[in-house]
Amino acid sequence: MLPTLNWPDGIDAKRFVRDYWQQRPLLFRNAFPGFENPLPADELAGLACEAEVSSRLVLESRGERPWTLRQGPFDAETFDWLGTEGWSLMITDLEKVLPDFRAALEPFRFIPDWRIDDLMASFAPPGGSVGPHFDAYDVFLFQAEGRRSWHIGPEPECGYQLLEGADLKIIETPEFDDVFTLEPGDMLYLPPRYAHHGVALDPCITWSIGFRAPALGDLASAWADNVAASLPDDKLYCDPNFTPPTSPGEISANARTALRQQLQDVLAGDETAFDQFIGQFLTDRAADVALHGQEITPETLRSLAAAGGSLSRHPEIRFAFVPMGEDATLFAGGVSFTTHLPVAAAMCQHVSWQGASLQQLLDVPGADALLMALSALGFVESDADDD
Ligand code: SIN
Ligand code: CO
Repeated sequence: MLPTLNWPDGIDAKRFVRDYWQQRPLLFRNAFPGFENPLPADELAGLACEAEVSSRLVLESRGERPWTLRQGPFDAETFDWLGTEGWSLMITDLEKVLPDFRAALEPFRFIPDWRIDDLMASFAPPGGSVGPHFDAYDVFLFQAEGRRSWHIGPEPECGYQLLEGADLKIIETPEFDDVFTLEPGDMLYLPPRYAHHGVALDPCITWSIGFRAPALGDLASAWADNVAASLPDDKLYCDPNFTPPTSPGEISANARTALRQQLQDVLAGDETAFDQFIGQFLTDRAADVALHGQEITPETLRSLAAAGGSLSRHPEIRFAFVPMGEDATLFAGGVSFTTHLPVAAAMCQHVSWQGASLQQLLDVPGADALLMALSALGFVESDADDD
């Protein structure tokens, strides 16, 4: 899908992470030599008409107000009405709708999976854009078809005025100091909060490989809930050596310090509890993911491999692991499984296995037991019969 990443001269994954990641933009010319776009504009439009696909249209001036956002699904009439300028179509979570597109995320796995969000593809006619804006997350913007000119701000956003009354957070008076024209095959990395404005020069398709980072507020409240659930009701604040206050109404400095300290002590938790929590938190699944559990046996798995059949991770289930010596805790869809380290690593390395590669996976001691458990929950799916 995407051939090997062609790093700019003198840069490799290690140097990129050290000098650019979350720090400054980087332009990749001819990022994937030999790339051929597998998803032309008419197929993107077709996807946008499907109910289970997450699609959006940005209308620069043809909507009810400037920069109107419409959620899909759309229909053929909408595309006829759009005309030849002033709009952009975006399809998010492409790798979940079309699992083959998970391969497009492979070149970016020098950033760990738990930081990767999704692959988005956008189409814009010449002149089209989603307006000057900034995003909260890191993104690689890959030019899959046509040319787009990218105007980039000089530094991460600081206090831009946003356009009033627009559905999108459009920067009213952006300041850009760089402009790059991306040809097909070029790619631009942008750290969070850099103002950018990408204007299509041709009918243009851009793929965005987007990253995610947990909001620390969400992390804090989830961890606090987790700690609270593990504390017995009779674990209370205590003050065996307190100093009497000058006034009975006062919450004294001593008491405040002791309260804060005791709170910090319980919130610190222990390492094992935190590792368990964080693995579940980072792989948790959306409530509406449709899962089809399938009971499989080691024999079914072996005959599946022998027959050249395949087994795949559910595209909406995240996998990650925490090593524990020779063992590991594997996390999938917010559930934890104790297994051997090589099994956990193998489960996370690939998203699907077929024939010989499935056989290889099954040869890792303990893999079949884990696959049975994952299959029963619908976290991996096989093309074997249900019975
Ligand atoms: C686009 O693909 O049109 C916009 C992507 C972005 O600016 O993040
Ligand atoms: Co953006």
